[in-house]
Parts: sequence; structure tokens; C-alpha cells
Amino acid sequence: MHSFLIKGGTPLHGEVEISGAKNAVLPIMAAALLTRDECVIHNAPVLSDVSFMGRVLTSLGAKVRQRGHTITIQADRINGHGDYELVRKMRGSICILGPLLARLKHAEVSFPGGCVIGARPIDLHLKAMRALGANVKVEAGYVVAKARRLEGVRMFLGGKAGPTVLGTANAMMAATLAEGVTVIESAACEPEIVDLANFLNAMGARIEGAGSPTITITGVKELHGAEHAVIPDRIEAATLAIAAAATRGEVTLKGARPDHMHAVLDKLVTMGVKVDWDANGLTVKGVRDLQPTDVTTQPYAGFPTDVQAQMTVLLTQAPGVSIVTERIFESRFMHIGELLRLGADITLEGPSAVIKGPARLSGAAVMASDLRASAALVVAGLIARGETLVKRVYHLDRGYEKLEVKLRRLGASVQRLKRS
Ligand code: EPZ
Repeated sequence: MHSFLIKGGTPLHGEVEISGAKNAVLPIMAAALLTRDECVIHNAPVLSDVSFMGRVLTSLGAKVRQRGHTITIQADRINGHGDYELVRKMRGSICILGPLLARLKHAEVSFPGGCVIGARPIDLHLKAMRALGANVKVEAGYVVAKARRLEGVRMFLGGKAGPTVLGTANAMMAATLAEGVTVIESAACEPEIVDLANFLNAMGARIEGAGSPTITITGVKELHGAEHAVIPDRIEAATLAIAAAATRGEVTLKGARPDHMHAVLDKLVTMGVKVDWDANGLTVKGVRDLQPTDVTTQPYAGFPTDVQAQMTVLLTQAPGVSIVTERIFESRFMHIGELLRLGADITLEGPSAVIKGPARLSGAAVMASDLRASAALVVAGLIARGETLVKRVYHLDRGYEKLEVKLRRLGASVQRLKRS
């Protein structure tokens, strides 16, 4: 298993290119199942989650090729059986359910397990498929969905923590080939949903309202191939912005979309971080005296849960008390124990982390547990005195393309150790 050996204390300086968004490309790859034609996806990040989704689509019979940042997919002859071992390993692959049901009127997809951040139920996904007329059962660890035909319907997809991103994606994709009009109420508003809708419309779908809580899909007979460039990854951009602020450096994030990052940028400005953007990108400049603040994660356009762990690290450097409250997932504080090992002063009070700063972090060996927690540990290593060894960085490789290379280009001392 690979680790990162980080020598902290160097302010990050320079420019870095933001990669395409993992959480946009995964459902867009699944959407290619809706047509026999070839689809070409540009600006796709080179990530293990992306190659994994490629393997899932290949196991269904699609032809998938990734050359650099371009993925070509042709699903001319496919079966509806999502391999248990494969789908179970990556939750994101649940978004093959909607396309398979729409294309084949039959889908068997393994029930994705929970993960360290929560139970990750899919009741809303199943509610959407049933609303469209499918008979859905859970048998031997598989979701088995069958339908004679799919019929447009008005559905409410809000759950206990608000909208569901991939549930909205599944419902939208299934509805593209349903007969009649589907209206999704309490739809997720994430930019990744808008990007998926844009790709589906390029394939000949008729979707309006993506990005708002009400999405209307008018079913069509069939979809054709399309070419699409994926939006930049707002979570990677937020992670690097926080790393720049935490190391009191100055970094320009080329290709970042500030209009996708208002909640994060608003918090950084509240803390005193300098943020500016122009055609060249988004420039973030750290300051000596940070202000504490409170953060609560919410559905988009609120503060993203995928940036909660990284922001927690920055808040350890602000004098005073900050409170971070996680409202989307039930256990997304796996990073806290490891941050304590580095010298942070954080106590957990139910859904909130109470952070006392500033804390002088000192390097140690820490263990990554999930994608965004490991990103937080890397940010902590960049500011800790001495060396930090972040183990099990395969978690990172799921969602950050060559992060150590990007950080080294910005002046950080980060080495990937192949054995440790
Ligand atoms: C997407 O996951 C992202 N993953 C997650 O990013 C992100 O954290 C999450 O949205 C929230 O923004 C991808 O897009 C591949 P949800 P998703 O359904 O769609 C509850 C990362 O680090 N819920 O929006 O699986 C659920 O338990 C990953 O890149 C139900 O109750 O998340 C959670 O509390 C982590 N029933 C809330 O909704 C359902 O049927 C939001 O989950 C579905 C979800």
C-alpha cells in the first residue's frame, strides 16, 4: 500500500490545473449505457474510481477505452447484470441502475454496501424506479428491477438529509426514455447534476430545470451518441484552496469554477483568506491571522460535506473556537482521531466537532480512512512541523489525480512511498 511522506512548513506557491470532476464523470459514464452509439467524454480525470466504473460498464458488455483524459464508451450490446463484486466495491456504480432499467427494462445491480461515512441507503433510488413503474425487489444482495414500460410521473425525492445526488441522477436517466413527462421534486441541485443533464440533452434527451429543485424530463424514444467535456472538480479546487490558505501561500487554481464554490469561498473570506478570480483562474492567498468561524454542511449550494474534513484542518489554525457540524452523513469524522495525533484540539459533540485553535501540529504517522478524510490528513501534513506519513493513500487516488505531483509543483515536499 502506498503512503505519502510529507515534510510540513512550506507555503504553497504557483499555479495548478484543476482536473475534471469525479462526481460528474461517474454518472456521465453510466449515461452512455442509454444508447448503442459511441459517446466521447473529455476532461475525464485519471482516477481509480473512473477506471473502476469503466470495469463495471465493461462487465455489462460495453466497450470502454480511456486514453489520457478522454474516455470512449460504446454500449451497443449490453446485459443488465451489474457484477456483485464490482458494484459492491464502489458506491458510485449504483448509477447504472437507472440507465439499465431505461434501456433494457431490466436491471440487476448489487446492493451497494455502506462505507465509513455512513449507511448510504438507496431507498430514494428504489422509490424513483418504482414511481416510474418498475417492479423492484432486493434479492440475495441484488436490486432486481423489471418493467414492461416506464411511464413519466411526478415524484418527490427528498430524504432525511435533503436531496440525493445519485438518486436524482438515476431518476433523471431512467426518465429520459420513459413515456410521457417526469417531474422530480426536491431534486439535487449540484453542478454535477447540471453537467449530467447537459450530457443527456446532447444525447437527445429533453431535460429542463437541472440545477433547481424541480427537474422536468420529457421522455423520448431513443438517445444517440454525444461528445462532452466534464466540468472541473469543485471539491479538488476547494481542497487545494484550503491547502494554500493553511500553508499561508498563494496559489492560482486554473480552470476552477468559482460559481460552483460560493459556500466554500464565502467561508474562506470570512476567515480572512484573500480570494480573487479572473480569466486565468481562482487565486487564494493565505494570511497570518485567521478568524475562527462555524461551518454546517448542507445540500448544494450550501457548504459541501466533501469539504468538511479539509475545512476542519484549516480551522485548527484559527485562534479561538470554531464549530463544524455535519448534517449530510452520520459518521464523517474519521479524520478527527488522526488529527488529534498531530496535535489538534478537537472534541466531538454529537454531529459537531468543536475546534480550539491555533494548534501547533507536529508530524506523525496517520492512517487515511476515506477519500476526503485522507485529503484532510495531507493538508494537515503540509502545515505540521516535521514529517507526516499518511498511510493507505489508495483512498486519495480514488478522487485526486496525482495529488502529490500537483503539490510538489506548488513547492510542497511530498513523496509517494510505494512500500511502507
Ligand atoms: C454523492 O453521493 C457524492 N458521490 C458524494 O461524494 C457526496 O458526499 C454526496 O453526493 C453528497 O453530496 C458521487 O457523486 C459519486 P446522496 P450520493 O445520495 O449521491 C441520504 C466523495 O467524497 N440518502 O446525495 O451517494 C444519504 O444517506 C463522495 O466524492 C438516503 O437517505 O449521496 C445521505 O445522508 C462521498 N436515501 C444523504 O441522503 C437514499 O436513497 C445524501 O446522500 C440516498 C441517499
